[in-house]
Amino acid sequence: MPVHHSAASYCLGIESTADDFSVGILSFDGEVLANVISAHVPEKGGIHPREAARHHAEVAGKTVEDALQKAKIEPRRIQAVAFSQGPGMGPCLRTGATAARALAAYLQVPLVGVNHCVAHIEIGRLVAGAGDPVTLYVSGGNTIVSAFEAGRYRVFGETLDIAVGNCLDVFAREVGLHPEERMPLGAVVEKMAGEGQNYVSLPYTVKGMDLSFSGLLTAAIQLFQEEEHRLEDLCFSLQETVFSMLTEVTERALAHTEKTEVLLTGGVAANERLQSMLNQIADEHNARFCVVPKEYALDNGAMIAWTGILAYQHDMTVPIEKSFVKLKWRLDDVCVPWHGG
Ligand code: ATP
Ligand code: FE2
Repeated sequence: MPVHHSAASYCLGIESTADDFSVGILSFDGEVLANVISAHVPEKGGIHPREAARHHAEVAGKTVEDALQKAKIEPRRIQAVAFSQGPGMGPCLRTGATAARALAAYLQVPLVGVNHCVAHIEIGRLVAGAGDPVTLYVSGGNTIVSAFEAGRYRVFGETLDIAVGNCLDVFAREVGLHPEERMPLGAVVEKMAGEGQNYVSLPYTVKGMDLSFSGLLTAAIQLFQEEEHRLEDLCFSLQETVFSMLTEVTERALAHTEKTEVLLTGGVAANERLQSMLNQIADEHNARFCVVPKEYALDNGAMIAWTGILAYQHDMTVPIEKSFVKLKWRLDDVCVPWHGG
């Protein structure tokens, strides 16, 4: 096997919080050598944690092997194994943790438990070139506006009920849209929204800095059932409403913190309408807008490996016997001593 950078050190990271299992390998200086993602697509409906976990168990060995081959490094070059310790779904997290523990024990290297939300921010800082941004992290399971302050990523605003990606997905399913080849439901809604133009009023729910999507989701589904509006117009209106809410909260966090960068990440970051709305508020505040490329915005192992490296360099490793998963581990519970501020 050809050996890549024989003197350098590497970290292997395992991501398994939800329906994707992924393995990333990075060098300690931030070069991504592999980022292999094995997506689990449920046959119908949303995520089933136990089915997803079964998928993870089935693909774990092969995905690790693929990542090592892709990285062209010998396993003994791996200096630490990182895994998503939470937040996420119990069965999924446990399967990833088991794989990580086995690998760390076999390679006789330290294990690093990574907070999934921190990882989304850290990979954004690495690959999208943001130093100290206000981050909007939007996915199927999370909706968080955060920024670094006094040693942690503080949560400035978050959802009070469902995540924005989940809102788009449930709406899409309820109105009979299906995921297309390489196109998740949110992207299908985006495509339809592009053909809509008439704004239909929906509940706009921002409470202080927090957001709520479930009421407007119910209202949008109800409007569809009344058959008075084109689906394109409803998709358009749904997007305009939820993205305006997200933009409003992000803008207020930006004004409050006086940061000079806005970072957009998570699966929903692929949405061009959301990108353009955030770009505009960034402009208005003389801030730079950065968006994480899809490969690193979706759940991925590279972000876990990179955050694992940062944590490892600050001795934040975890003994195997204490490496239990943390289903509700909050972003603002984590110390991030590697952040210069
Ligand atoms: P997490 O564990 O971080 O909550 P996740 O399991 O939801 O992540 P992601 O891949 O980060 O996984 O995000 C998936 C979400 O992104 C889905 O809700 C999907 O519909 C949404 N999405 C993907 N592309 C688009 C798009 N173009 N517009 C809007 N939403 C999108
Ligand atoms: Fe995620």
